[in-house]
Amino acid sequence: MGTDDDLETTTAQLREAGCVAAREEAAELVEAAGGDVARLRELVARRCSGEPLAWLIGSVRFCGETVFVCPGVFVPRRQSERLALEAVARLPEHGLAVDLCTGAGAIAVVLARRRPLARVVASEIDPLAVECARTNRVEVFEGDMTASLPAELLGQVDVVTAVVPYVPTGELRFLARDVLAYEPRRALDGGEAGTVLLARAALEAAPLLRSGGSLLLELGGDEADLLRPVLAENGYREVELLVDEEGDPRALFGRH
Ligand SMILES: C[S@@+](CC[C@H](N)C(=O)[O-])C[C@H]1O[C@@H](n2cnc3c(N)ncnc32)[C@H](O)[C@@H]1O
Repeated sequence: MGTDDDLETTTAQLREAGCVAAREEAAELVEAAGGDVARLRELVARRCSGEPLAWLIGSVRFCGETVFVCPGVFVPRRQSERLALEAVARLPEHGLAVDLCTGAGAIAVVLARRRPLARVVASEIDPLAVECARTNRVEVFEGDMTASLPAELLGQVDVVTAVVPYVPTGELRFLARDVLAYEPRRALDGGEAGTVLLARAALEAAPLLRSGGSLLLELGGDEADLLRPVLAENGYREVELLVDEEGDPRALFGRH
């Protein structure tokens, strides 16, 4: 355990480095250091240089669940929590869900914890993220989008979720400096219009879904307008747009 002095000093260092939630983060780092002064110094230096807090303390809270996050793996975002909860609402008690591009597995974790009798399967291309998702006890298949998923899932799935990389390549430079410096580009870059993997997710989820099953795609900017025709072409109906508190598009849902 750290002392009050550790907490005060760490808070001041983080504030000086421009950290917005300096006190809360300081408390997390002091706890993670477990009273080891050298370790605390190292963690503070890494945080001040912009390394994600989740990598330093080893986890993040997502929909109230603790999700382990390994260094090098995309940190699950608070903005994805609503999509995860919408997916839970659409998943029957004994249902089947697939989380594409699962990363550390946060959405799969929420689905599995809230629907313990359902089967939740995930895919992910990055071996480091696959390992991390397995630490979170996610049944994850390593591979490109749906390529490695078992054939037995075809036509059986109630819910497919996908938080794919969707930042247009030309807009990557507008991301926060720390995100660009640390988080893997492969987790962010969605190609020229940002929709390359979104369109693939819609296309490849269609044969997995049972009749009436749901697809939930996180997106941003004008991507919903670009994706609507793709959803229509692939047999999705009842397409709904989810907007955030600022009225910005955050996700597109459709039924197959
Ligand atoms: C924006 S991150 C989201 C991760 C996770 N869904 C979440 O919300 O925390 C996108 C993830 O997609 C993975 N990815 C990128 N291209 C992929 C592909 N072709 N097939 C499967 N996963 C892919 C990345 O490695 C990364 O983990």
